[in-house]
Amino acid sequence: MSDNETDFEIFLIVVPGLEQFLAAEAREAGFVVTKVDRSGVTLRGGIYHDGAAIQRVDNALVAAGMTVHHEAAMVIKVRIEDDLCTVSLDTSGESLHKRGLKQQVNKAPMRETLAALFLRACGYDGSQRVYDPMCGSGTFVIEAAEIAAGLLPGRARSFAFEQLASFDAERWQAMRDAAPAALSEEPRFFGSDRDAGAVRMSEANAERAGVAAMTRFALAPIGEAAAPDGEPGIVIVNPPYGGRIGNRKLLFGLYAAFGERMKTAFRGWRVGMITTDGGLAKATGLAWSDIGGTVDHGGQKVRLYQFDPARNA
Ligand SMILES: C[S@@+](CC[C@H](N)C(=O)[O-])C[C@H]1O[C@@H](n2cnc3c(N)ncnc32)[C@H](O)[C@@H]1O
Repeated sequence: MSDNETDFEIFLIVVPGLEQFLAAEAREAGFVVTKVDRSGVTLRGGIYHDGAAIQRVDNALVAAGMTVHHEAAMVIKVRIEDDLCTVSLDTSGESLHKRGLKQQVNKAPMRETLAALFLRACGYDGSQRVYDPMCGSGTFVIEAAEIAAGLLPGRARSFAFEQLASFDAERWQAMRDAAPAALSEEPRFFGSDRDAGAVRMSEANAERAGVAAMTRFALAPIGEAAAPDGEPGIVIVNPPYGGRIGNRKLLFGLYAAFGERMKTAFRGWRVGMITTDGGLAKATGLAWSDIGGTVDHGGQKVRLYQFDPARNA
């Protein structure tokens, strides 16, 4: 296949009036500019069409005696950047946050993989108590309980590597069968939500995950969320964000009520809050001691805001 067959038309949008400068920059970068007008700059790529790259990999696999199915469990990923081509095998299969346990999800659920890392970022090591006062489908609470119980996150799903010729099924089964830490009957992981459906969903998800005895969920609006008696622990929450669900103006009230509740009913608890919106984080009135970098969550840029009670004693 010649380069001409694989290059394609690329259109660069530009603010009207600046098109000549963009065209000059594109030419300098080695592109062949075919048209310049008020709406933008048209050029031909020196870039290979991804379809052509896929076809070459397909041909090589077939030549090596393999069968190619585009829906196959084992996926080969090819990344081309400048002149460097990296070929890798996706041994996971479905995304890792798909644990195979959760059947019921609320609006905007937190991905389990991110929930686990945000808990860790808040200093959670499996020993503290955890409370999510807007728990939705219960992701943080269940994840924290599973970590404490030593339950393996992939225990209820399969992985693409199980399809590899070198897969050792016996060894894998032995790893899966490894006994988790003795499950505590004492509830240390709490969630509440103003939505009865969310509470039922969390309970069902906790049951399925095998951590029902360690968790407690209650129906409560944020203004009535109550810290359980005993040692303070970690509050972790992702309240609704403006962009996706809810209306930003109404959300100011919700975030303010959350901050107030933390100050009055959760004294001594560390707080981790995940949101897209710095203005809403400020509306809590909490003196955030640490603001994390942006993290992509389903196309939204979120940050972890942390309140450390020790710094505000
Ligand atoms: C973004 S979702 C949380 C998702 C959750 N972390 C999960 O993984 O499923 C926000 C939750 O806040 C709850 N919520 C909104 N306003 C509330 C309020 N005033 N009091 C308590 N919960 C509230 C909603 O019902 C919703 O379940």
